[in-house]
This record gives sequence, C-alpha cells and structure tokens, in this order.
Amino acid sequence: MREGIGVRGCGRKEPVVTIDGPAGAGKSRAARELARRLGFRLLDTGAMYRGLAWAVQRAGLAAEDGPALRELLARTTVELVEDKVFVNGRDVATEIRTPAIGELTSALTALPPVRDKLTPLQRTLAAPGGVVLEGRDTGSVVCPDAEVKFYLDADLETRARRRQEELADRGVTVDVAAVREEVLRRDRQDMGRALAPLVKPSGAVVVDSSGLEPEAVVRRLLEEVERVRCCTRS
Ligand code: DC
Repeated sequence: MREGIGVRGCGRKEPVVTIDGPAGAGKSRAARELARRLGFRLLDTGAMYRGLAWAVQRAGLAAEDGPALRELLARTTVELVEDKVFVNGRDVATEIRTPAIGELTSALTALPPVRDKLTPLQRTLAAPGGVVLEGRDTGSVVCPDAEVKFYLDADLETRARRRQEELADRGVTVDVAAVREEVLRRDRQDMGRALAPLVKPSGAVVVDSSGLEPEAVVRRLLEEVERVRCCTRS
C-alpha cells in the first residue's frame, strides 16, 4: 500500500478489526490468534473493564457508590501491554480473572462514568489501525467506523459447555444447568442494559462458532480481513 493512502481512504494503513459477541462465543481465543497472525495489536476491552473492577474491589467500593466511584475512576490508570493489564502500574492480569471480578465488571459496565473513562481511551488506541478489538461494544460504540466488524456467536448449549470446561480447567466442578443459568444471566445483563448494550453492530459479519474448531473460526475471520485488506489496498 502506498504511504499515506490507507484502508478505505481513511488514512489508516491497516484496518481496525472489531470482534463482539456474548460470553462463551470464543472471542478471546479467536481475537488473540487473529491478532497474532496479522501482526496486529490486540485490545481486550473486557480486560480493561475488569482492571477497573479490580481497583473498585480493592478500594472496597460498591458499584452504586456514585461519588466515591467517580473519585476512584479519576485517579485510576489502566494500560494494556501485550497480554498484561496494568492498573496504576501494577500487573493484575491474573487477579482480574475471578468470577467475583466478572460479576462486578458486568455491573460496572452499565454505568456512564465507567464507560466514559474507557471508551475514549480505546478509540485513541484503535485510531492508528492494525488492531483487533475484542468486547461487547467495540463495533457499535467504540469504533463504528472499523473496516472489519465481526459478531461471534454460539448456541447456548455450546457456550455453557465451554464455560463449564473453562471452570473445570481451574479445578471448579459446576453442574451444566447452573452454568447455563449463569450464561443466561450474563446475556441479560450485557444485552439488556441501556448503555452500550451487546448488539450485532451494523455491517458486522456474523460467525457462529457452534460446532467449529477454534482453528476454523480463526481461518474464517482471517479470510474476511484479507478480503477487505485486498479490496481496499490502493
Ligand atoms: O469479555 P469479559 O468476560 O472479559 O468481559 C467482562 C464484562 O465486561 C462482561 O460482563 C462484559 C463487559 N464488557 C463490556 O460491557 N464492554 C466491553 N467492551 C467489554 C466487556
């Protein structure tokens, strides 16, 4: 591609790729692998929200504690460095992956001051292109002008089974009916909130990962990104 002539004439040399979808659709794995193969930066927006939730939990605040929450947000920094998440300079990548942080994150992401803090940061990080964003609102709110948008989905049984396997890997045995309930509850929270709800972004390519091996999902995404890269190269 010629210098200065970008994807779709927008000035970017490489596209912005967004991947949204419900819990258990296989987004994280697909996004990580897609970014690796393209040599793009990965922006795990859920990890950024989880980082804020970690700071809130550590401060002993509740999601509904408005003024204290605003004050905490104002003095909290969140950075993504490769696979690591730094909150106020501390690597919290492992600590943010607990069910309690997941629940608190889900409650916090419905609140305007929380989204107002991270959405502009995510946009700034995505602006140069050559990035894969993964989350719930990356193609609808964060980067509605993204050159390639995906909505990765899977049926409820598949998502519940994946979640159960993920828990089993961590030594937690949970009955599939309970996991199904948890997945449904998370769907209601993520899709039902007024602010930046999980939706299929306009122009998104829908990929159903039920019954697909992770490699087949990545290949499908890669195919689409390469198609767009090819068509828009000048
Ligand atoms: O993808 P995850 O499990 O790390 O996300 C944690 C929570 O954050 C989940 O409830 C969805 C929410 N989230 C969001 O509201 N917007 C995003 N862009 C990313 C995640």
